Amino acid sequence: MRRVPSAPRAGAIIRLGEVTSTQAIAFELAERGAPDRTVVVADHQTAGRGRRGRIWHDAPGQNLLVSILARPQLAWRCLPTLSFAAAAAVGEALETVAGLRARLKWPNDVVVNGRKIAGILLESRPAETPVVVVGVGVNVAQASFPSGIAARATSIALETDRAIDREALLQALLDAFDRWRGRLEREGFAALREHWLALSATIGQHVTVDEVSGRAVDLDLDGALVLEDGAARRRVIAGEISAAAPTTLD
Ligand code: BTN
Repeated sequence: MRRVPSAPRAGAIIRLGEVTSTQAIAFELAERGAPDRTVVVADHQTAGRGRRGRIWHDAPGQNLLVSILARPQLAWRCLPTLSFAAAAAVGEALETVAGLRARLKWPNDVVVNGRKIAGILLESRPAETPVVVVGVGVNVAQASFPSGIAARATSIALETDRAIDREALLQALLDAFDRWRGRLEREGFAALREHWLALSATIGQHVTVDEVSGRAVDLDLDGALVLEDGAARRRVIAGEISAAAPTTLD
């Protein structure tokens, strides 16, 4: 059995077999003082965490399940923008390693041909300086999904008919995340926001986020989605898109 080191060195990638959740392990390590950019990867999670308290299911050994512990040089209010860095990084990694053109769905799903191929979960704990764990689950080789999500989910294998090396995907993801995160810390959100807008699967769509409906027209400077309904504009800072009707061209 592979064990969790008690004091990981800087830049460590901790590879584990079956765990409850890589998020839980990353937070345990954070409490023990693990450095910025400690990475936890597992083959299978028995209690994988999804957004909004949901369970993130995986087929053992088939997918990329990774948590990145970050002690970012960002103000608390800017932390949500890290999830856009993760989404951009997943998109780049999918292109580099699998040749897939992914699009980004607000707030931080990664979709290919309209189906979700990766999910991102950002969690933080109260602390003097920000500690964030960025969790990324990418469906790599999984060929089928539970009936409740089968129509909305996909994987690299289903999209490409190719076997992809999870290690190569992990390296590409970490490289891209380091780059976007560094840029975010040095320059702010502007470049990442432009990149997200260019790849967005949400902008231009008529959507409902929780109780609020409208046409998604912009991403605000803090990552909020801007919805337009007639003359009214409303910002949605958190939530989930529950409906996206196709827009007409007129
Ligand atoms: C979502 O609901 O879309 C977010 C899913 C995030 C899943 C990943 S898998 C690795 C990490 N560990 C977890 O328990 N969750 C995240």
